[in-house]
Amino acid sequence: MKNIAVFVSGGGTNLQALIDAEKRGEVTGGKITLVLAGKTGINAIERANKANIPCVVVNRKTCGSEEAFDNALFAVLEEHNIDLIVLAGYLSILSPQFTKKYDRKIINIHPSLIPSFCGEGYYGLKVHMAALEKGVKVTGATVHFVNEIPDGGEIILQKAVDIEKGDTPEVLQKKVMEQAEWIILPKAVNMFCNDEI
Ligand code: GRF
Repeated sequence: MKNIAVFVSGGGTNLQALIDAEKRGEVTGGKITLVLAGKTGINAIERANKANIPCVVVNRKTCGSEEAFDNALFAVLEEHNIDLIVLAGYLSILSPQFTKKYDRKIINIHPSLIPSFCGEGYYGLKVHMAALEKGVKVTGATVHFVNEIPDGGEIILQKAVDIEKGDTPEVLQKKVMEQAEWIILPKAVNMFCNDEI
């Protein structure tokens, strides 16, 4: 059984999708044993508490240096014997030391079809605003391995979502979550836990 840590910074709807998929028996070979929050006061922590999953807050700012932040993360991950890290709406960019240590053991969900609308600065609503500004007719979500390049690691799964006339960034964000993110993230986690990727 692989131990899964989910890193979160916000609402935690992707965390919820993972918890629900696990409950339905759609994630075999793995279990969410830790939620790591980037800050206090976020909804994702409530979701972890409700599901009885241990939750630890590691705040980058209060750590002082990047090295201290890395060491704090390493200590928690080692203590919980983590095999897979899932970035689910986690907003801090991890250091190259971190991504090297956990090579092919970190996956991220990004709300566009990479290589479109990705990389530094493309997060949250900004991704959907950029897609609408460009006038693309199809967008979607991507699950990928995390390396030292933001949104640059190997692609694991993608799912497309049609853009309709009148879609606002908020509407598109919701559509991409419901029609793509919440489906492909649990699927990719299940693939990892069953050594299929
Ligand atoms: C999602 O759109 C995800 O793709 C992106 O950040 C958002 C997080 O939402 N990386 P949530 O916290 O899972 O609700």
